[in-house]
Amino acid sequence: MTGAAGGPGSRTYGLTIETQGLTKRFGQQVAVNDLDLAVPSGAVFGFLGPNGSGKTTTIRMLLGLAAASAGSVRLLGMDMPGKFQVVLPHVGALVEGPAFYPFLSGTANLHRLDAATRHAAPATRKIRVNQALEQVGLSHAAGKRVHAYSLGMKQRLGIANALLSPRELLVLDEPTNGLDPQGTREVRNLVRSLAADGTTVFVSSHLLAEVEQICTHAAIMSAGRLVAQGPLSELRRSGSACIRLVTPDARAAMTVLARLGLSPEPAAAQPDGEVVTAALAEPHIKGYRPGPDVSALEAVTPADAAPEGIVAHLVQAGVRVRGFAVERESLEDRFVALTGEGFDVAQ
Ligand SMILES: Nc1ncnc2c1ncn2[C@@H]1O[C@H](COP(=O)(O)OP(=O)(O)OP(=O)(O)O)[C@@H](O)[C@H]1O
Ligand SMILES: [Mg+2]
Repeated sequence: MTGAAGGPGSRTYGLTIETQGLTKRFGQQVAVNDLDLAVPSGAVFGFLGPNGSGKTTTIRMLLGLAAASAGSVRLLGMDMPGKFQVVLPHVGALVEGPAFYPFLSGTANLHRLDAATRHAAPATRKIRVNQALEQVGLSHAAGKRVHAYSLGMKQRLGIANALLSPRELLVLDEPTNGLDPQGTREVRNLVRSLAADGTTVFVSSHLLAEVEQICTHAAIMSAGRLVAQGPLSELRRSGSACIRLVTPDARAAMTVLARLGLSPEPAAAQPDGEVVTAALAEPHIKGYRPGPDVSALEAVTPADAAPEGIVAHLVQAGVRVRGFAVERESLEDRFVALTGEGFDVAQ
């Protein structure tokens, strides 16, 4: 698929989606609150958030399906909804519950939808419909009436619809809804292969694990607000780390750790010793500056407070180190901390 070729302003903009102050009110409720999204071209962008956090409402505004109460949207470098006629042919979308005729087959439904699209070439329709059905693994059920489709099959048909023409941008709202683990894996692979062809993919999900595996970037929504956004690697790095020490000399270990400027805490004992944990001062990660209280105690260098320095100090003080690990807050821990809500991480 030549997704990025020849589109509006092709390759002349760095952001495929850009919103500023995007807001949607339903009466008293602010469903989307002052949202500044920046989706780089070529990214697989995970739009994460718990149920009701404003994902679908945002997506509807991006596509011009709902009017914003305030703020602006630019898609492919052009204003929406003002330029929707130029922009939308280059955007494939799957938004909650695509409507199909239940008494028609999957193939027939796609033919109708394609025929209703002004820019779609009738001459290539048959081949494009078959290709899209194959891409989503529905070829075997193409002739079946849609009313006999499972939820997952309908979801796949919705994705096939989004793939009928070459696209610069794909917007998928919870594309794995109703899919079994096998189907979920297939959608993931599909997104990967589309992204490899240069298509920018914006995919919403409340399933962290699913997005984490395929995304290059992510944004996290909580109650209508954006609480974090950026490359996945940066979001991961910004999580805090701690050390976990197993020793029969917990008291001495706590003294050493405190001297190094850490705040050790005893944890549940193990058969081979007591467990002591301490948040690692971010220092050894980058730019460590010991606080005034620490430097007043003694000269603690960044090397002292790095894991290898900590172990050296412990051993030097006669602490028997039977276990030592550096544990980093997982992306899931971080998201939960940011949204204050649990993510469903099941497949
Ligand atoms: N048409 C509407 N009228 C009134 N309130 C609405 C409307 N659409 C959405 N809302 C409210 O806006 C909030 C955000 O809803 P939205 O559907 O955008 O969330 P979501 O993040 O997509 O959730 P989910 O993960 O469940 O799909 C919810 O509180 C919802 O009840
Ligand atoms: Mg939704």
